[in-house]
Amino acid sequence: MMPLNGKTVFVTGGAGFIGSAVVRYLLDRTEANVVNIDKLTYAGNLDSIPQAVGHKRYVFAKVDICSGTRLRALFERYQPDVIMNLAAETHVDRSIDGPGKFIQTNVVGTFTLLQEALHYWHNLETSRRSAFRLLHVSTDEVYGSLGSVGLFTETTPYDPSSPYSASKAASDHLVRAWWKTYGLPAIVTNCSNNYGPFHFPEKLIPHIIIKALADEQLPIYGDGQNIRDWLFVEDHASALALVAERGSVGETYNVGGRSERTNLEVVEAVCTLLDQMEPSRQGSRRRLISFVEDRHGHDRRYAIGAGKIEQELGWRARETFESGIAKTVRWYLENRGWWQAIIQRGYDGKRIGLSHGTGVASIDA
Ligand code: NAD
Ligand code: TYD
Repeated sequence: MMPLNGKTVFVTGGAGFIGSAVVRYLLDRTEANVVNIDKLTYAGNLDSIPQAVGHKRYVFAKVDICSGTRLRALFERYQPDVIMNLAAETHVDRSIDGPGKFIQTNVVGTFTLLQEALHYWHNLETSRRSAFRLLHVSTDEVYGSLGSVGLFTETTPYDPSSPYSASKAASDHLVRAWWKTYGLPAIVTNCSNNYGPFHFPEKLIPHIIIKALADEQLPIYGDGQNIRDWLFVEDHASALALVAERGSVGETYNVGGRSERTNLEVVEAVCTLLDQMEPSRQGSRRRLISFVEDRHGHDRRYAIGAGKIEQELGWRARETFESGIAKTVRWYLENRGWWQAIIQRGYDGKRIGLSHGTGVASIDA
């Protein structure tokens, strides 16, 4: 076990949805020194870490993980003990319209980070070398789609469907290869769908909350019976900190909250909560539900078996779906400034992801 207190932790993608929850967790619940490495794409937002302003254990570096030179300078300057890699392009619909950025950041970026981590790790003195950890944060989407029964385990074969999940699968394979071939002390986590505060409004739950508040149609892809296994983002952050501290190198840990819901159930839950917390004169938000053209390659069901992290590391999700979704809806009602600023910066909430590959550019276009 390697307590994070007093250690220096690089969090890549620390301005994103989950990365910011990890940074908040490390600042609020540990004594770790945090270096947040983020390129600040459309999804990056420093407003998601209000407590970081002026914090003595926090540094921000606006750096692209594809830049080996800039990463090397950060390694030399801050001498990290732990790397938590969350920098990624993450939206499936965007990956359908423009996969090049996903290959660049998720595959080439992870490769670049691995090479720089390896170079740094080789030059560490023995005790710091053996304590060093690289935690690569991934998704259950690498396993593909489940039928109506069964759960993903750490040994489920990879079978990704979207450009996003394929690029994440590639990055996971690279991380494991750097452990097996070079001995770089790496761990991979594969987590189910997250939700909670500071979630960019393109993803299902904030998308629906914000559209419902604007009295706009609530788009449900296909028949609404696709199933996702929802985990409150702060439970994911606590799992990642635990794996960084106590996980065994070379291992994979699945993370999930045993909260399978159909998309229709999720949207109905959001409508019910909004109707209770902020009733509309027009009547229930359920009247806004509309079934729209399905996503291409839309995985039917994801469900995580989290027995390994629960039994071996003692992790438990604290929130149920009901408690977490209520907290989330309330947060979006009480923090309108956070998401309205995103809309003001140009996010229009329109449907994307319907391209058939025509006009899709290659990596450098
Ligand atoms: P996000 O899209 O909210 O944030 C990604 C962050 O990475 C942003 O701050 C962005 O600016 C940054 N970034 C993107 N490209 C970069 C680059 N080249 N260099 C440096 N920074 C870059 O994503 P998220 O939902 O917080 O996901 C974080 C990680 O967790 C991803 O690796 C994702 O695959 C994984 N994951 C997400 C979920 C989920 O439900 N959101 C579930 C399981 C795993
Ligand atoms: P999303 O939040 O994009 O996450 P992921 O595709 O990584 O699971 O979508 C969650 C589910 O919700 C997925 O089955 C697609 C569906 N969905 C809709 O039905 N309508 C929407 O407007 C969006 C964004 C997603």
